[in-house]
Amino acid sequence: MDMMRIRNSSKQQTDPENESVSRLVERKTGLNTMKTMGILVACLMILPVFVTISVIYKGSSLDQYNDARVIHAKGSEDATSKPVDEHKDKLLDGLLTTGFEERSCLSRYQSVLYRRASPHKPSSHLKTMLRKYEDLHRRCGPYTESYNKTVKKLKSGHHITSTDCNYVVWISYSGLGNRILTLASAFLYALLTDRVLLVDRGKDIDDLFCEPFPEKSWLLPLDFPLNQFNNFDQKSPQCYGNMLKKNHINNSMDSLPPYLYLHLAHDYDDHDKLFFCDQDQSLFRKIPWLIMKTDTYFIPSLFLISSFDQELSKLFPSRETVFHHLGRYLFHPSNAVWGLITRYYEVYLANADARLGIQIRVFDTRPGPFQYVFDQIVACFLKENLLPEVSVQEPIVTPSGNRKSKAVLMTSLSSGYFEMVRNMYWENPTVTGEVIGVYQPSNEEYQQTEKKTHNRKAWAEMYLLSLTDSLITSSWSTFGYVAQGLGGLKPWILYKPENSTAPDPPCSRAMSMEPCFHAPPFYDCKAKTGIDTGAIVPHVRHCEDMSWGLKLVDRDEL
Ligand SMILES: *[C@@H]1O[C@H](CO)[C@@H](O)[C@H](O)[C@H]1NC(C)=O
Ligand SMILES: *[C@@H]1O[C@H](CO)[C@@H](O)[C@H](O)[C@H]1NC(C)=O
Ligand SMILES: *[C@@H]1O[C@H](CO)[C@@H](O)[C@H](O)[C@H]1NC(C)=O
Repeated sequence: MDMMRIRNSSKQQTDPENESVSRLVERKTGLNTMKTMGILVACLMILPVFVTISVIYKGSSLDQYNDARVIHAKGSEDATSKPVDEHKDKLLDGLLTTGFEERSCLSRYQSVLYRRASPHKPSSHLKTMLRKYEDLHRRCGPYTESYNKTVKKLKSGHHITSTDCNYVVWISYSGLGNRILTLASAFLYALLTDRVLLVDRGKDIDDLFCEPFPEKSWLLPLDFPLNQFNNFDQKSPQCYGNMLKKNHINNSMDSLPPYLYLHLAHDYDDHDKLFFCDQDQSLFRKIPWLIMKTDTYFIPSLFLISSFDQELSKLFPSRETVFHHLGRYLFHPSNAVWGLITRYYEVYLANADARLGIQIRVFDTRPGPFQYVFDQIVACFLKENLLPEVSVQEPIVTPSGNRKSKAVLMTSLSSGYFEMVRNMYWENPTVTGEVIGVYQPSNEEYQQTEKKTHNRKAWAEMYLLSLTDSLITSSWSTFGYVAQGLGGLKPWILYKPENSTAPDPPCSRAMSMEPCFHAPPFYDCKAKTGIDTGAIVPHVRHCEDMSWGLKLVDRDEL
């Protein structure tokens, strides 16, 4: 469906009889062609980040990046060559490092051509710690001398007294949005505890993401001795919570096991949750291998662990930028996914005057689409002035040359809502005269986990949403969290409908761009009693979209 549209719309000028494309797309494309040169020039002067360009490399090393030339501007075959803005900050204010081979991962240094420069700068301490981590990873990564030594000891099964390098192994578990959030969580945990992050590739991690660290892979070698990750669960003899329950482990033991399994998934119990206590963290310092399974963004609760607190505030003076920085540091789409992103962006989003993303996730077990969901979406974007009203009485005639255009990127498992919004702006003129294009890359009808092409498109969609100027998201959606975090956007969150009716108000602006931790512990480790963990410090609060969830915000008072 989406491929059809792309092919058709690129054929518009030469094939006017093709009726299978909506008039909206047709008109837009024509308009864009006429305006392309003007837009290109204007964009180069005013908004360099939004210019859609293809870049050719004269060499593969980073130092030659500045030789890159624009050879082709979208929609205009004869565009003259223009130099890429040489001051464009491809290292994202020092968040990224040099030294990668560029062709193997085009997105790493090209993202700057598509994304607005972030107003949030990484702290110098974060940059220092990332460079330090990269050195550690270089020294301890797969098949290094230190790695080989620790694995050998692990195989022997004996207690390991001390090792050069300690590790946290992330198990690929749950949907793609969740996995992106948990990878960031595991990485921050690794940073805080001087561990090396190694990643279980599951079915497709290596297909979706580039390597984030120089020289040594982040993928756990396939010959790693404990690779039967499906066997790990809460009942495993190596599960930390289970061992506590059975009194098989404590801080005063002389002989600790070489590895522990940490069960941090949504169904974890009170013993597993002791992960978030200082005392338990001090025990983990003596364990070289921690193997972690989680499906939720647990970073907010790390901010409540007193031994991490000081370091975290140095790393992130602005608390709500944790995922924003870590996400842009870690998650670079593979070349296959980058192709999906850039081709779509160039056709549908690049030439609009403004872009709005709408991420729809419906938690209704019946098949949709539902009128109440549509009503809620429309009520939200009209109330918040994100899209103009339409005039149903009479057509407003305005000259077509000078209209502002807005591109709406919708993502949803079904195409129903996209069709309804598109038809709304196709069948009726806007009262402002603005031209609204509505696009949806794909619809898969139901969510599938760990399927290759599905996840490539899902990742591309999250990334595309993150390239918009404003964003509407659904409650509880990890897909939306990823997009808002990468994009540095505070979304308008659609409240969860109750009883199949659109809530009033339909949506509200998020307090911060951080993801919500859906399954936080409510425990005071010192007092050994229950506590409201959303009311301890000003910067860890309950989420807008989930009353028991926790999220980071920039606030000084409770
Ligand atoms: C580590 O072990 C692998 C084989 O298991 C070997 O190929 C590699 O050379 C070793 N690394 C070092 C630094 O000896
Ligand atoms: C720690 O665990 C060991 C082994 O189960 C046990 O013998 C010992 O009494 C425990 N110590 C404490 C302080 O609980
Ligand atoms: C849900 O809707 C039904 C039917 O409209 C109504 O009888 C019921 O009171 C509603 N429940 C709530 C919690 O609003």
